[in-house]
Amino acid sequence: MNKFYITTPLYYVNSKPHIGHSYTQIACDVVSRFMRQCGHDVFFMTGTDEHGEKIEKAALERGGKPGEEKKFVDGIVPVFKDLWKKLDINYDYFIRTTDAVHINTVRSILAKLHKDGHIYKKEYKGWFCTPCETFWSEKQSMDGICPDCKRPLEKLDEANYFFRISVYQKWLVDYINSNPGFIRPDFRRNEVLGFLKEELLDLCISRPKSRLSWGIEIPFDKDYVTYVWFDALINYVSGAGYPHDMAAFKKLWPADCHVIGKDILRHHAVYWPIMCQALGIEPPGSIFAHGWWVIKGEKMSKSKDNVVDPLEMAAKYSVDPYRYFLLREVQFGMDGTFSEEALVTRYNSDLANDLGNLLSRTLSMVEKYFGGKVPGVRFFERSCSSRSQDEIFYRKFQNNCDNMKEKAVALGVELEKSIPNFDFAGALSKIWEVINIANKLIEDSKPWALAKEKKPDELAQLMIGLLETLRIIAISVYPFMPGTAKNIWAQLGMKEDLGKVRFSEIKAWGDLKEGRKINKSNVLFPRIDTTKRK
Ligand code: ME8
Repeated sequence: MNKFYITTPLYYVNSKPHIGHSYTQIACDVVSRFMRQCGHDVFFMTGTDEHGEKIEKAALERGGKPGEEKKFVDGIVPVFKDLWKKLDINYDYFIRTTDAVHINTVRSILAKLHKDGHIYKKEYKGWFCTPCETFWSEKQSMDGICPDCKRPLEKLDEANYFFRISVYQKWLVDYINSNPGFIRPDFRRNEVLGFLKEELLDLCISRPKSRLSWGIEIPFDKDYVTYVWFDALINYVSGAGYPHDMAAFKKLWPADCHVIGKDILRHHAVYWPIMCQALGIEPPGSIFAHGWWVIKGEKMSKSKDNVVDPLEMAAKYSVDPYRYFLLREVQFGMDGTFSEEALVTRYNSDLANDLGNLLSRTLSMVEKYFGGKVPGVRFFERSCSSRSQDEIFYRKFQNNCDNMKEKAVALGVELEKSIPNFDFAGALSKIWEVINIANKLIEDSKPWALAKEKKPDELAQLMIGLLETLRIIAISVYPFMPGTAKNIWAQLGMKEDLGKVRFSEIKAWGDLKEGRKINKSNVLFPRIDTTKRK
């Protein structure tokens, strides 16, 4: 069994999560569920980033006293965990940067890099952006403005510890060039290479305790704590067992993919691989940077106070339509504008109309014409003979049935290409092509007329085809909408736990056994009345 190790960023706990955070979680959950379906041994890790100035500030603003930051973060972490549970995020491990194991790893890495001469102390004069927790040189800063978030920077003049990353600049450029899949999508790789055309400055990795005490103490100087990014990036190895469980670490590392937003690409694609290289461990397998959800042209962010609450969206439209919308609406990697109107449009057309109707009309017809049981295949064989009258109809009907079968079975190959490559919109549009072909087949072959004209062979062939297609659709949509897929599965009368059904079964046409009782129960997606909403 191949291992598959995937990570999300560790989110800051200075406030509640918003849809941007849930986006990365859902994407990783989809890939993890898919890889599990394909038989991989998945390790999906997420967690929280709990040290640094931002968190200290938030703790104090909420009435905490200096020294009580841990109490504050302990109160926020359950908000994240509850949300992930609500959104059906099936992670394997939740890491907190305040975990003792993580703290020990950070300290041991600092001690090793210091001993090996990678860390030195010097007087620092430069700029710092507190919201981004990022240092900027005089040249990089735009007259005291942060080049990333465009907010005012703070001037710093203090002695600090530095990590000698400049000596790795050439190595990193060569590494990126010789590993084209390392930074994805391609245009993000070019962005990083563009950044690396400028001189890479050594990275300040400490903060004097006199200014910030909420952090991991530097093992060789008790007057300093670790810069929050240096601390947080290490989670990817500490959570995998480095160095306390090297057997687990050797099995998991390198991580297959760090999934992040484009805002933190430089930290992951520049600082992190250099940290790994200096430590003598392999860089991660790949980094995928997705785009931003924007609202009225601005990035949705806690500090801009323009956030949409995922809990509210999931409560209003249900979890699965929310998951579906985020991954269907925008190509993963690009920015997207969030709007409830767009969500409702997708809900009514793709979910209620296309998928919901296909299921309900198929099951109603099986109920009506075959007593709610999967018809037998003998009909299937008989129907292949052509008849002199209506020959054109039969040939067309046969071709349409074959076309649906072909497209449904071919979905397997399509999804194996698109989902591991984070092409969620592509994968979903392929699934919906099949749903639409099935709906069209119902309209073109008019089962009610077949029933009236007493053509049970064709009617049975049609129903078997539709039921098989729905079985394949349930397996295909499972990573995206696990609850909905399980519902479809149960309505088809399937007893096996869909979470354990292998993806390869998608390619096995004819899995539904004759006589199996279908189990029509509820409407998948009740239509949202848009006239009332106005
Ligand atoms: O950066 N659209 O944490 P963070 C899409 N602690 N995704 C968004 C988004 C938006 N508008 N806003 C946030 C940190 N995200 C660090 C990470 S990792 C070792 C340390 C998502 O709470 C996206 O994944 O600011 C982004 O990279 C992440 O949340 C930033 O979360």
